[in-house]
Amino acid sequence: MEALQAILQRKSVRNFTGETPTQEEIEILLKAGMSAPSAVNMQPWEFIVITKKETLETIADNLPNAEMMNKAGACIVVCAIPELAHRQLKEYAIIDSSCASENILIAAEALGLGACWTAVYPRIDRISFMRRLLNIPQKVIPLNAIAIGKPTGLDKPKDKFNPKKIHYEKW
Ligand SMILES: Cc1cc2nc3c(=O)[nH]c(=O)nc-3n(C[C@H](O)[C@H](O)[C@H](O)COP(=O)(O)O)c2cc1C
Repeated sequence: MEALQAILQRKSVRNFTGETPTQEEIEILLKAGMSAPSAVNMQPWEFIVITKKETLETIADNLPNAEMMNKAGACIVVCAIPELAHRQLKEYAIIDSSCASENILIAAEALGLGACWTAVYPRIDRISFMRRLLNIPQKVIPLNAIAIGKPTGLDKPKDKFNPKKIHYEKW
């Protein structure tokens, strides 16, 4: 699929068939994530791949607005690591890891998979829950839990283009 088509067709997918993505597909998503830009190319991120049904169900039951995890075949938790970021700034770690996350979402679309960013950061209770569940060290920030799976086709892209949001030359 053309890159632009994948970007324009990307949507949050919350309806999955239950099939598990292949290891090859997961690796392509991780490669896409790690291809993202980052401040001074510090790449202050790491990724946790979850395919165990039991863990996916625990996330679905405990992380707010992540019910779709039950039928997603996999989940990638994008983790931001401030101490690895440019100037060791948390903000750079979060921005860079968000770029990696968006790449994963677009790559999923390009592969014919569906994905949905579910929020962990900046909610303290959700960060604590994910740290406990996945043994994530204190210095590492779980940014999100991205549900990945085969889409049923129910979810559609939204046309969000709005000329009123564009300024030329000055605000
Ligand atoms: C920071 C962030 C947090 C989000 N958290 C959730 C979430 O917890 N659960 C969920 O179902 N979708 C979540 N989303 C997806 C948004 O709801 C979705 O991107 C938005 O409604 C626009 O729809 P689209 O992705 O289909 O274009 C999140 C997206 C972002 C960027």
